[in-house]
Amino acid sequence: MKVFVVDVIPEVGLDKIKEKFDVSICDQPEILSKAELIKNVSDVDAIVSTVNEAIDKEVIDSCKKLKVIANMAVGYNNIDVEYATQKGIMVTNTPGVLTDTTADLAWSLLMAISRRIVEGDSLVRAGKYKKWRPRMLLGTDIHGKTIGVVGFGRIGQQVAKRASGFDMKVLYYDIVPISAEIEKKYNAARVELDTLLKESDYITLHTLLTKETRHLINEQRLALMKSSAYLINASRGPVIDEVALIKALQNKQIAGAALDVFENEPALSPGLAELENVVLLPHLGSATEETRNKMAEMAADNAIAALSGETPPNLVNKDLNKK
Ligand code: GLV
Repeated sequence: MKVFVVDVIPEVGLDKIKEKFDVSICDQPEILSKAELIKNVSDVDAIVSTVNEAIDKEVIDSCKKLKVIANMAVGYNNIDVEYATQKGIMVTNTPGVLTDTTADLAWSLLMAISRRIVEGDSLVRAGKYKKWRPRMLLGTDIHGKTIGVVGFGRIGQQVAKRASGFDMKVLYYDIVPISAEIEKKYNAARVELDTLLKESDYITLHTLLTKETRHLINEQRLALMKSSAYLINASRGPVIDEVALIKALQNKQIAGAALDVFENEPALSPGLAELENVVLLPHLGSATEETRNKMAEMAADNAIAALSGETPPNLVNKDLNKK
């Protein structure tokens, strides 16, 4: 059986698949165009995908014998899961293994933007550090402030857990009911989204990207934020209306934003890169050696199970067999 791997994933995963199947790998630095993707997948039994490639109806229809799409990510908004389900194709993801790593990264962003880490680094490298100055690169305190977590799933909860070390007040918003036990565990209070936006000093996004969460943070909602507040996004770019965000940042309507993801990733909306009150990262949420190894292994295990006639451990479309 044939497997197409869309990028060079860590060896632990790659080796496992290679042991059993005929594997082709794309190692180009650019995202595969839809035409290139279609050319590569027409006769494969499995695709090991990443967040880059849109696996939509057209791509799925071009596959003659596809059985599984094993995404090396917890999110799977790049895949038309509903259509894959209709066509009897399994979709899998890599939940759990990247929770703490992504929460750590959200915190790295929060600390980088509030304490002006990137600006400080650039100043030193540019040879502009002449003396310690009482008013140089003043940031904003983190400890004792209010953090608002939008999307209180696995990652959101771990972000909240880390906030307790900073003596922060934790607010959260989620459409899914969260048990009182979890709220107590993380010392978190549920509030409506507008209240969270008005009261938080740091707002951090951890939602899935769905029809409902696309542009959840729009012009009206940005207008609710304090002028001293920071927005952090390590979820999916389109959760924020990037044009509205740029306007809010240009007008100093909010203090800053730290983004790991972008609306039209990897492209940046015009004006974003010119702003000083932003920190921009290339989607590094899960990017540690340990975690990427685990993700690759998990994606491989999912693909192997599916091709061996078993139910993969991380099947997303669990309703597949009921269709
Ligand atoms: C990365 O963004 C993921 O969903 O795992």
